[in-house]
Amino acid sequence: MTDKRIFNFNAGPAALPLPVLQEIQSSFLNFDGSGMSIVEISHRSPLFDAVINDAVERTKRLLGLDDRFHVLFVQGGASLQFAMAPMNFLAGNRSADFVNTGTWSTKAINEAKILKKNYSVVASSEDKNFSYIPKEIKFNKDAAYVHITSNNTIKGTQWQTFPDTNNVPIVADMSSDFMSRPLDMDRFGMIYAGAQKNIGPSGVCMVIIRKDMLDLATDELPSMLRYSTYSSKNSMYNTPPCFGIYTIQLVLKWLEETVGGLEKMEARNIAKGKLLYGFINNSDFYRTTAAADSQSLMNVTFRLPTEDLERSFIEKATAKGLGGLKGHRSVGGCRASIYNATTLEAVEALVDFMQIFEKEN
Ligand SMILES: Cc1ncc(COP(=O)(O)O)c(C=O)c1O
Repeated sequence: MTDKRIFNFNAGPAALPLPVLQEIQSSFLNFDGSGMSIVEISHRSPLFDAVINDAVERTKRLLGLDDRFHVLFVQGGASLQFAMAPMNFLAGNRSADFVNTGTWSTKAINEAKILKKNYSVVASSEDKNFSYIPKEIKFNKDAAYVHITSNNTIKGTQWQTFPDTNNVPIVADMSSDFMSRPLDMDRFGMIYAGAQKNIGPSGVCMVIIRKDMLDLATDELPSMLRYSTYSSKNSMYNTPPCFGIYTIQLVLKWLEETVGGLEKMEARNIAKGKLLYGFINNSDFYRTTAAADSQSLMNVTFRLPTEDLERSFIEKATAKGLGGLKGHRSVGGCRASIYNATTLEAVEALVDFMQIFEKEN
């Protein structure tokens, strides 16, 4: 079966490490000798406790989290976090700073607006179609937090370093680059990531939250929309997304034990990015859409000379077993998502195909 698998460049849900999928397959009918599938066991069982606790511990080790942080699993995707963050952190007159770097940042800002919270958009790259990450931003020193999107899945840009916010905690949507590189966690009050790009299936969002941020919420919030409900119950106030958490546990195990941690993961991601951007930058046929200093190591967005050629490129690539190369429907063009689980071999196969397509056209 595995020989029929394609090189998968989907933006999310996206490729997962093959050994993880194989482990799920082999243990699916009889999880840990229980005689039941992971999707059939109680979330209130010692078997599931071991899964969720291991996922939390591995997250802490991989990111070097100290006990200031909680690791939570929440449903509703990253999109619910766009609303939960302002709901929890902007009680009363508190205000947040937002940096607008594209579609997902815009959606996050919009939720604060719907909730009638105070906020400022302190920088934006909309003037150049979100093709770069703004620099030299003036942040408000009394903001409750600064919201950024660390990697812009659609526009193919990524914060290479994080901005100096005068000690105001950063709240970052890391949906599309979570666990792709080490982080200096002193900078962050919260990070969140829909799992379906780098760490698991859809249906679960990981939230890493600093404990002092929990105290900003008021009691008026519904239980399921309050972070402290999750932190006080080990993410099991209600039935959690068990299968998603289990898959995340296995991906984190792969990251720790097979890859060897986030520094090694980053080195792999840099090698893949160098190969693909190196090729595109040397070509007169393909061109990247992101500014050189803002290019994402996760989503490589590029154009061909015409839209007809782009259609033909995507069609022929698909026929050759290179899937998911169509750009987001809102921007067109092409996009190769090369998340953690995408191998160097996959990127080599893509570059080979791009070379041949260029020669033929
Ligand atoms: C950076 C980013 N944030 C948020 C989202 C929305 O995530 P979800 O579908 O989990 O709500 C996406 C989805 O592609 C994304 O790429």
